[in-house]
Amino acid sequence: MLPITDQLLQLLGLQRTAFRVYAVSALLLSGLFFLFRLLLQLWRLCWGFHVTCRRLRCFPQPPRRNWLLGHLGMYLPNESGLQDEKKVLDSMHHVVLVWIGPVLPLLVLVHPDYIKPLVGASAAIAPKDDLFYSFLKPWLGDGLLLSKGDKWSRHRRLLTPAFHFDILKPYMKIFNQCTNVMHAKWRRTLAEGSVASFDMFEHISLMTLDSLQKCVFSYNSDCQEKMSDYISAIIELSALVVRRQYRLHHHLDFIYYLTADGRRFRQACDTVHRFTTEVIQERRQALRHQGAEAWLKAKQGKTLDFIDVLLLARDEDGKELSDEDIRAEADTFMFEGHDTTSSGLSWVLFNLAKYPEYQEKCREEIQEVMKGRELEELEWDDLTQLPFTTMCIKESLRQFPPVTLVSRRCTEDIKLPDGRVIPKGAHCVPLRAGALSHYVATLLPIGAWPCLPQVP
Ligand code: HEM
Repeated sequence: MLPITDQLLQLLGLQRTAFRVYAVSALLLSGLFFLFRLLLQLWRLCWGFHVTCRRLRCFPQPPRRNWLLGHLGMYLPNESGLQDEKKVLDSMHHVVLVWIGPVLPLLVLVHPDYIKPLVGASAAIAPKDDLFYSFLKPWLGDGLLLSKGDKWSRHRRLLTPAFHFDILKPYMKIFNQCTNVMHAKWRRTLAEGSVASFDMFEHISLMTLDSLQKCVFSYNSDCQEKMSDYISAIIELSALVVRRQYRLHHHLDFIYYLTADGRRFRQACDTVHRFTTEVIQERRQALRHQGAEAWLKAKQGKTLDFIDVLLLARDEDGKELSDEDIRAEADTFMFEGHDTTSSGLSWVLFNLAKYPEYQEKCREEIQEVMKGRELEELEWDDLTQLPFTTMCIKESLRQFPPVTLVSRRCTEDIKLPDGRVIPKGAHCVPLRAGALSHYVATLLPIGAWPCLPQVP
């Protein structure tokens, strides 16, 4: 019996009985036990944080904005923000430590030799980090980009047929059609003569979304001519996710969803999910009705879209993907497929405009391949006949990578070439994909642009 039990019973105005004494003692003991566990966990957390900070001291860090925000918001994704960031990275080479708020340290790895041990580590040692990717979760669910472990491996295997050449080849027709629509719009704009310049990125984004909607869902929304709710929701979601990263208080779900941005994010997610779910359900019904064999027979000679591939996929045990899994993969492909390619293509066009002599060489190469053709459209096999154009695309991707960082969290210590160690545990390790592409550059037969930056 605890001495405090009597006092507590008195305080509650209860008569002292043996049962009450034991019951209150038991309650008090379990309360104390939980409090002790909580304190122990808190102590472990603080100790872990202290150890991590001590181990991170060997990495240089630029001056912080203040103790609360750390470096958050100091390097915004605009021209001056990027220049400031470049200055810091140039002066601190290799690895830089930055703080997201007061308690979240991030190691930014810049030099290829320092990135190598991390990208070379297995997915178990350097898995994807939830920190940045978690903002995408309500939209993309457990698709390939965000899933980990067994689920990721199973889905990777199930999705492999989607990348078979026989599936991809017919998509060339779709890419040509969608690009023709974009070119027709440009010609119209030029003929009207009313616009001196326009933002190509918007046009290219719509073109890539149009292509993807056709490849993934076999759905023609005509979004390049008139905006659809689904496509504008994807564009809005992409922008909202980026904006959320730069506002510390928006990192907390319960605050974010009370803000105007959070409410718009939720609405846009609903719009996207409604569209994807409807397509999947309709298609699954049709597939059940006809049977897989008849379905495939009817599809012969036609384009098999991503939803078809996912609905027909079976694992080693003959199990299929659930509607929710398929929705997550389709939403992931719509995001990953448009955001990256529209940025990449825009930079390719920027570079070709900047270097007209290389633009001319690409044009000549393409015209040579097209010679004598009635229909001026590139086909699958033509792609290997365009080595110079391919080099220009790769070089542009290297210099202006569409994905500027990927995010990892180490579950074990990782040793760097100079002997310093990325400590296991509480801290996060993003990779600058720009640096990553410098590394890749050493493997590619490149050299198209005259002003190749040196690998530091
Ligand atoms: C220039 C074009 C592209 C670039 C630069 C690019 C870049 C990347 C990068 C850097 C990652 C790794 C992310 C990480 O590990 O954290 C990634 C993953 C991924 N990308 Fe792309 N991507 C491009 C095009 C596409 C396209 C067209 C699609 C689909 C239509 C796509 C679908 C995916 C998916 C599903 C993943 C996750 C893969 C996995 O974790 O297994 N990407 N991409």
